[in-house]
Amino acid sequence: MNVTLHVWRQAGPSAKGKFVRYEAEEISSHASFLEMLDIVNERLSEKGEEPIAFEHDCREGICGSCGIVVGGAPHGPNKATTTCQLHMRVFKDGDEIWIEPWRARAFPVLKDLIVDRSALDRIIQAGGYVSVNTGSAPEANAMPVGKDAANAGMDAAACIGCGACVAACPNASAMLFTSAKVAHLGLLPQGQPERYDRVLKMVARMDQEGFGTCTNHGACQNACPKEIGVDFIAMLNADLRKAVLFPPVKRESRGEGAA
Ligand code: SF4
Ligand code: FES
Repeated sequence: MNVTLHVWRQAGPSAKGKFVRYEAEEISSHASFLEMLDIVNERLSEKGEEPIAFEHDCREGICGSCGIVVGGAPHGPNKATTTCQLHMRVFKDGDEIWIEPWRARAFPVLKDLIVDRSALDRIIQAGGYVSVNTGSAPEANAMPVGKDAANAGMDAAACIGCGACVAACPNASAMLFTSAKVAHLGLLPQGQPERYDRVLKMVARMDQEGFGTCTNHGACQNACPKEIGVDFIAMLNADLRKAVLFPPVKRESRGEGAA
């Protein structure tokens, strides 16, 4: 198949970017979208031109590094699919495809399609641990975990930190990502120590990084390749309300996640 690409090219963080047109000819419909970009890049290199910079690692939908906007949709037109799992058979011969990086103030463009997503890592670092000494790892089955909590915790832990939720949100909010990270710890008994302080720290860091506010558009859950639902945002807001309304001493007296 032959497709026409309009690719965002930007030499560096402060350079002015623009769309550049490329003809991707004789591409197998079985090729993945990233393999198609590899072929385009090989041809550009052969002509002595600068290849298109894009990020990838696992190419199995598990690392979260390959996110780009394809045809106006984060990760492309398929539901629950990362860019690396997208295949050319989704497109038609002769299609024109616009490819651009995540657009968000907190994700500055480094080069072409690559953005700096380290703001998401800093949200995790702000609260994704317990500061008390817990000794060595206990036997895995020593602490029973309810089935519902285990299932919901696993759903939240499926977040791969790709940033598509931020790219899809009109406010560039990171609430879906942050709520998934807060929930996969806060739902489990092991996550109860420092549960409410963690949510305060992670939300504060999210705001500090320049992400926007959630106004319940729901675009994040539609774009999420791991189908993380906005229910987790509701859970985060519930924990945030408790953290703000009840200082640690009151929470301890209520038997809830002490500081
Ligand atoms: S919540 Fe979904 S879209 Fe957002 S970072 Fe996690 S996996 Fe990606
Ligand atoms: S390259 Fe790892 S999720 Fe796409």
